[in-house]
Order: sequence, then C-alpha cells, then structure tokens
Amino acid sequence: MKRTLGTCYYPEHWPEDMWEVDAARMAALGLTWVRIGEFGWSVIEPAPGELQFDWLDRAIDTLGRHGLKVVLGTPTATPPRWMLDRHQDMLAVDAEGRARGFGSRRHYCFSHAGYFEESKRITRLLAERYGRNPHVAAWQTDNEYGCHDTILSYSDAARSAFQDWCAQRYQSTDALNRAWGNVFWSMIYDDFEQIGLPNLTVTEPNPAHVMAFRRFSSDQVVRFNRAQVDIIRAHSDAPIAHNYMGRVTEFDHYKVGADLDIATWDSYPLGFLEDRVGRPVEDQRAYARQGDPDFQAFHHDLYRAVGKNGRWWVMEQQPGPVNWAPYNPAPLPGMVRLWTWEAFAHGAEAVCYFRWRQAAMAQEQMHAGLLRPDSVEAPGFGEAQQVAAELTATPEVAPAQAPVGLIFDYEAEWMWAIQPHAKGASYFALVFDTYRALRRVGLDVDILPPQPEALAGYKLILAPGLMHLPDALLTALLASDAQVLLGPRTAARDADFRIPLPLPPALPGLPVTVSRVESLRPDMPEPLRGGGAAQMYLEDLETTADPVLETNSGVPVAVGAEAMIYLGGWLDDTAMDRLTRVLCARADLETFDLPEGVRTRTTAAERFWFNHSSQERQVGRITLPPAGVLRVPLV
Ligand code: GAL
Repeated sequence: MKRTLGTCYYPEHWPEDMWEVDAARMAALGLTWVRIGEFGWSVIEPAPGELQFDWLDRAIDTLGRHGLKVVLGTPTATPPRWMLDRHQDMLAVDAEGRARGFGSRRHYCFSHAGYFEESKRITRLLAERYGRNPHVAAWQTDNEYGCHDTILSYSDAARSAFQDWCAQRYQSTDALNRAWGNVFWSMIYDDFEQIGLPNLTVTEPNPAHVMAFRRFSSDQVVRFNRAQVDIIRAHSDAPIAHNYMGRVTEFDHYKVGADLDIATWDSYPLGFLEDRVGRPVEDQRAYARQGDPDFQAFHHDLYRAVGKNGRWWVMEQQPGPVNWAPYNPAPLPGMVRLWTWEAFAHGAEAVCYFRWRQAAMAQEQMHAGLLRPDSVEAPGFGEAQQVAAELTATPEVAPAQAPVGLIFDYEAEWMWAIQPHAKGASYFALVFDTYRALRRVGLDVDILPPQPEALAGYKLILAPGLMHLPDALLTALLASDAQVLLGPRTAARDADFRIPLPLPPALPGLPVTVSRVESLRPDMPEPLRGGGAAQMYLEDLETTADPVLETNSGVPVAVGAEAMIYLGGWLDDTAMDRLTRVLCARADLETFDLPEGVRTRTTAAERFWFNHSSQERQVGRITLPPAGVLRVPLV
C-alpha cells in the first residue's frame, strides 16, 4: 500500500486571502491530506440555528482545487459558549464534585441528554452538507476522547444514566447486591435510584462499584461516538476515524474502534516523555530530543489492533517543540523524519503533521508547526519534505503479521487502577515493560485485543496482568499453537471483582496456585538467581511445576509447563530480558542484540532500522547516524 502525508489546518484562524497560498504550498510539499474543522463550531454556528457554512465551503473548495483531500472533523469537542445557556448542566463534573468550566475545550459530559442531541444535530448538518462533497475524503469524530481527563464525569446526568445502566446489567438490586458483595459494610441497595457514583465516599468505595462505573463511562463514549458515525454513514461513503491519544485508557478503544473504519492517534514523542512513558529520569534526559524508543511504536501497534482490518494513521505528528509538557525541547534533527518512517514501518497509512502553521494567538502559541507564524518554513518542514521525496521514490510499505502477540485489555487497566496494591503499580506500565523487552531483542509485536479470534498465527503470545480472564479467552490460549506467558495477577478477579474459587490462576495443565500476594517498596526488590529481580509485586506460588525463575533462596517466581509459563511477579529489565530469551528459545524465534536506542521492524518486503539515540550506532555492518533510518530489502 502507498503511504501518504498530511497536515492539520485551521482556515478559520487565518485571513481568507492566505488559504490559496497555503493550499498551493501544501500540495507542493507533497501532502495528500488536510484535516480541518474539528474546533470550528462557533464559526459554523455563531448563534443557535444561525448557520454559516460559506467559509467552510470555500475552504474545502480551495484545498480540493489543489488536489488535497479533506478530513472533516465534527466540532463536538468545543461546544460554543451559547450552548451552556441552552444546557446549563452539560458540563462534566470532577471527582471532587466541581463542574469543569468553559474557556478551553472538552467541556461536556458524555451522559448529558441535551448535549448528546446537539452533537447529533451538528453532525447531521455537516454530514448533509458535505457527505457527497468530492473533496471530503474522510471524517473524524470529535477530537481526542479522554484528553484532559474527560471520560469520568460525576454529574447528575451521569448518575441517572449509571442507575439505568446498572438496572439493565443486573436486572434486580438483589442481583447487583450479590454481585458487588454489598453485604460488606452494609451497602445493600433496594432501589436502583439509591445508587450513587463512586466519588466523595468517606473511604475507598467498593471496587465492584467503581468497576461498574468505569465500564459504564466507557460505554457512554462508545454510544456518543456511534451516534455520530451512524449519522455520517447515512450521508457519506468516506471512511470515518477518530484520533485517539497516547496512554489514555479510560475507555475501551477496541469498542469505539469497532464502529469506525480507521483508528488514528496523535503522536507527540517529546511531549509524552516525562509524564506518560514512566521511565527513569536518566532515560528522559538521554531521549529528551528523540522521545522514548518504544512508546510510539507501542501505540502504533496498539492502534493497528484498534483499527478495522488493521487500518490506522497518525492524525497528529509532533513537528517541533510542543507547548504542554513540563519541558519542551526541540527534536534532534532527523527525528521528525524518523517518527514518520517508524509509523509507516508499523503500518500507518498516513501521517499528518500538527499543525500547518504555528498559531499566533491563544493556548498553543508555543507549539511549533510546519511553518512559523510568519509563514516561513520551520525546521520540521524540511524533514516532511524529505519524507515526501522519499515516498515519491518508494511509496510502498508491505504489511506483515508479527510473530509475537501481546494482549492489551482496557478492563484489566481499570482493575489495576482500582486495586493497584502497590503505589505506582499500573497495568499499562506492566504491559509496556513487557513490550519494551520484546522490542529490545528486535521482535515485531502485534498488540491483540482480549478476544479468542485474535490469537491465530502467533509463535508467542504474552498476556501479563490480565486480572480478569474470561473462559473463552483461556480456552483459546490453551488451544493456540503459541508459547504463552501469563501472570502476574492472571484471573485474580472475576468479572464482578471478586476473588474466584478455586484460587487463581487455575490453569488447566499448569499446577500453580497463588497462595499469597505481597507488594514491595521500590527500595526492596527481590533478587533472582542468575540475575535481575522481581519488584513492586510478588506472588507466593504453590506449585509442583518446573521453575523457570527463582529467588536467590530458591522460591519459584515463574513456573512452566510445555507451552505455558506463569510469572508470579513484576520483573525488572534484566530479569525480563532473561525471561524473554527463554520464551523466544521455546517459540523458536530469532533475536538480536540491539545497541541502546536502536529498534528494527520487519515488513513483508524489507527490514527497517531506526536509531533513536543521539549517538552513531553500529549493527553488524550497518552504521546508523543519530536519528538514522535505514530500509533494507529482505533477500
Ligand atoms: C492534541 C490535540 C490538538 C492540539 C495538540 C497539541 O492533543 O488534539 O488539538 O492541542 O494536542 O499538541
């Protein structure tokens, strides 16, 4: 498939006489896509019912005349100020019970019935007007669900919708009381209307209650998105996307993705480094201008799984310093190109740079664009130009299934967040540590949803931390041809957050029972025989199975049967590397000894090499300069 480039553009921010020149420059740069419109509601509808589409008609026409394809966003992430006069209680409410104010964006509650109707109304108006416009070649619903912590809302609207959701799911309060174990601390309900949201309780709320609220909140996003999709589909054949984010896990992306045609995500490698990647401060320093070598790749692989038939894009690519991280350095020269090629190597159909021109006003003045505010080319422009030229020469990247599957489950993420047992323990971090170990030895990874039908064709499947393991998924794992890694905390809870009996993990063919669980302070790792340590989280394993890893005193930490290993702890990098090599040997997978910061990705026709470090690196006979990218045809 041919790979393409694009940009994010805000015609409403610039005098109309600049649009023509902008479009001509975009086309000359070799861009294919221009995303517009996602924050434009107050200029499309300045007052309720007063529609001004003329400017948008002309903007789309101008871009189209230059051969550019438009991705049109629905503007529902930024309801205009007048909307609050119509729906005074539409704002989301935080866990402290405070309404979140107007003056930035994403100021709505997914459960508010009035706003839900407004979002459908504006979507319908856009779909009717542009659904058959030849230049509108794709759609984006809303913008970044979950950005700025906006999924969980503790509003009155959310409470009453949650009560309905509970009534649907449990049918009777008796069933709900039994499922949640409400006899504990006298929390029995006798009417669904008594059920509140799990905030402002005196001490920790019932985890089953919180889990239900997390599921409900995710379902509200799915419903909100689906309503827009249904309307757009009725008027347009163009594919529909949403732009997800890095490490935003409060809703189930697979479920939202099932209604869309393309998954896209917004990749800000330097922005993410300090707050989202979760690596030690030395790594943050070493990668300050390059971004973490695995964080973007992880999300590329994740969104390939979220997108229907593996279709995914980068909708927003950082082109220079951003404005919102604790520190905002400029990328090392070459990194904008590297990030773009890395996305293509992982299967992105398109990469769009955010934004075309740096804004001279409002919140994002400190955020680079491809152009400076005075329209002179910024450093990112040249790198985009280089990629465009390279794409002209070799536009094809052929996809391939990876040999390794790594399950990522949003419900497990919520369960760990609700009951971490150790300060800082997070399912995302555990899965990401596992992913990093696989990438360090040069393996390609497909992230998999927790679905039985996703498991076919892998040599190795890893499912760390899957706190709830549905029977059908366990059956499929046992039946697969792959070597399987489970644990820690596998099947530790049932769907309603109870400890199941027999005690977990209860794996047919692998005699192991978790008899006790402890969490460890960061300064008390448990050293393992042969190197490395278990940290954070350690299970006592009652087992007669063969040990794979043991503590220095000979207590088993990982045990194995023929095609399955159960791991009863969270490993540090050294121990994880050892376990990865055991797994690869069992699965007959070739591994590399990659130098620090070098990553590789193999497609059906070639092997890509990426140097994320700021130093030159040597791999065999290959020399990679800092930020170097190399494509080698497979022989
Ligand atoms: C994204 C968002 C954009 C812009 C960008 C800045 O999260 O979708 O609208 O704010 O960040 O980096």
